[in-house]
Amino acid sequence: MAYFKKHSFLLISTLLVIFLQLQFSSTNAAVKGGYWYSDSGLAVSDIDPSYFTHLFCAFANLDSSTNTVTISSANAARFSTFTQTVQAKSSSVKTLLSIGGGEGLPLANKFANMSSQASSRKSFIDSSIQLARSNNFNGLDLDWEYPSKDTDKTNFGLLIKEWRAAVVKESSSSGETALLLTAAVGGSDQITGLKYYPGQDIANNLDWVNVMTYDLFISDSYPTSTQPPAPLKNPTGQFSVDEGITTWIGLGVPKNKLALGLPAYGYKWSLSDPNKHGLFDKATQGLGAVKYKDIINVGAQVVYNSTYVTNYAYKGTDWYGYDDTQSISAKVSYAKQNGLLGYFFWHIEQDSNWALSSTASQTLGA
Ligand SMILES: *[C@@H]1O[C@H](CO)[C@@H](O)[C@H](O)[C@H]1NC(C)=O
Ligand SMILES: *[C@@H]1O[C@H](CO)[C@@H](O)[C@H](O)[C@H]1NC(C)=O
Repeated sequence: MAYFKKHSFLLISTLLVIFLQLQFSSTNAAVKGGYWYSDSGLAVSDIDPSYFTHLFCAFANLDSSTNTVTISSANAARFSTFTQTVQAKSSSVKTLLSIGGGEGLPLANKFANMSSQASSRKSFIDSSIQLARSNNFNGLDLDWEYPSKDTDKTNFGLLIKEWRAAVVKESSSSGETALLLTAAVGGSDQITGLKYYPGQDIANNLDWVNVMTYDLFISDSYPTSTQPPAPLKNPTGQFSVDEGITTWIGLGVPKNKLALGLPAYGYKWSLSDPNKHGLFDKATQGLGAVKYKDIINVGAQVVYNSTYVTNYAYKGTDWYGYDDTQSISAKVSYAKQNGLLGYFFWHIEQDSNWALSSTASQTLGA
């Protein structure tokens, strides 16, 4: 009897340890993600959550004087009812509160400062968890764009390690399912130095990362020739979506913790000669970003280029490099074939009647 008790105790505690490890290492089913951007004008009640497994509510702010996470008063009502509104239509969709965004260096410096001290990391972490719970989110998403030096890398690692520990602790004391923890991260060395991300700490402490594999060749930076803004492949150059994903795998983040970024927008150029409308043809100027729904409303001639895996469209001297259903479908197939976790869109208001969202969802499948 004593022998049995002792051994069953050992067996049960071993199983418990294995169970707890499995809980964090194998929870990920496929991710079909989408960011809702509060400034986009899309009402939360107009989101069709059936195309998504995870919706990211963007953005909460980082208050640099207190190093706490805050929600602006303009966003308070919509953020606090976000989860309830989308889950009323689709009970399985999970929601994450996204913190930060692509505002550039001043915001990046706030993250760098916050992460540099144990006390300010704690303020950030505790306030983020409190805010997620009080607003009914299922998780938190860190959008620090971007860590850009060795100390940032170290501090990013400390931040997510302490964040994970705090999330585990909060879950065991509240009895609630642990909050998901993700980050939106640089998608190519063309955009930011991926070497400033702590790959091993990310693998150990985040559920996954949203790899922002877009904006590689934008019209502001390349005004004199048309470009594929987010090519999956680049036979004549170094940078592409595939290059970014390969780099991330090289950093030690498992493929099943990588979600591929899909842009629901493109960039516009003005052609030098309306009869020369291919990729890399001459342009007189770059005309900035354009939403997918606005590009397809132009009624331009649409071309799919399978070498680069991009779409483009032209009408007169107007030329658009962007992702349409063909390139979206090819990119999601790539994610699937390479064993990635899934994909996400930035951002869902730019889609046209959910054409891209539904194509991506169907391509990834159940
Ligand atoms: C850096 O964080 C400290 C608190 O840890 C804060 O007092 C200070 O204002 C912050 N500085 C900047 C430049 O954000
Ligand atoms: C894609 O565009 C490039 C550059 O113009 C061209 O060389 C290539 O043949 C195109 N690929 C296809 C499949 O048309």
